[in-house]
Amino acid sequence: MIEVRGATFSYPSAKGEPKFLFEDLNLFIPRGGHVALMGPNGSGKSTLGKMIKGLLSPSSGQVLIAGHPLKTGEISPRVGYVFSNPENQIVSSVVEEDIAFGLENMGMDPSTIAIRVRECLGLVDMEDYRFHAPHLLSGGQQQKIVLAGVLAMESEVLVLDEPTSMLDLQDRRGMLDLLEKIHGEGGRTILHITHYFEEALRAQEFMYLDQGRISYYGPWEKFFSLELERDSLRVAFPPLLHLIQGLRERGHLIPPKVRSLEELKEFLLQSSTSGCTSF
Ligand SMILES: Nc1ncnc2c1ncn2[C@@H]1O[C@H](COP(=O)(O)OP(=O)(O)O)[C@@H](O)[C@H]1O
Ligand SMILES: [Mg+2]
Repeated sequence: MIEVRGATFSYPSAKGEPKFLFEDLNLFIPRGGHVALMGPNGSGKSTLGKMIKGLLSPSSGQVLIAGHPLKTGEISPRVGYVFSNPENQIVSSVVEEDIAFGLENMGMDPSTIAIRVRECLGLVDMEDYRFHAPHLLSGGQQQKIVLAGVLAMESEVLVLDEPTSMLDLQDRRGMLDLLEKIHGEGGRTILHITHYFEEALRAQEFMYLDQGRISYYGPWEKFFSLELERDSLRVAFPPLLHLIQGLRERGHLIPPKVRSLEELKEFLLQSSTSGCTSF
């Protein structure tokens, strides 16, 4: 669904000499995939996201969305993109108009637009702000409005660049639940750029970008154990994972699907009553 083939990309440098960020970058995320992308600041995560949307074009190589190659400068209508800074993405002075904007451009009839705007505001828990001015809302509320606008477009691919960076803890959980729900409905391919490994755990697969190279792409459990082996710990892993790892080393067969404290508690309680584990 998302495919990058042999892409080369550089930003113009102050000295005029191009410094390549990506050289021969290759990536394939199948339809329906939900991938979390992490990596240090400046590793190229946002640039990759913008390349997938078509906001930036590689100087050689190709980006294909649903098998369709993007031409240089062509912005993909199949990709919904949420920037890390929502202010860059708000175009109207009233929330509902902002969400309707893309749909109006598609030529959708006004009554269908009104229904969809209300539905999407409901999804992000922002119905009460329908007639508010987006620029007077908090960063977190703006982030939700931008996401509602992107969801309204029903794009096949969602690229979310740190979509929770301005949200408080409760809203972050709400946003992650929403992403899981959207993914669970099927059909959508999601690339979620994040700084938090806790968030990455909610995706199916994990990708790590390092100085413009994909140094890992696969299940997060494997990344975690590789990092532990190498003792490199490039990511701040949640204490829960260290606890699970420690329990596994002591012979407790904790299944990979356990990724939250609640699930671990549930598993340990069940296995202690069924006598599968001993403390
Ligand atoms: N508009 C730009 N002009 C020049 N260099 C840029 C621009 N945007 C990003 N860069 C550089 O490209 C590299 C990758 O940036 P970015 O994709 O934003 O990384 P990340 O999102 O992983 O923090 C960084 O070294 C950054 O300084
Ligand atoms: Mg970034």
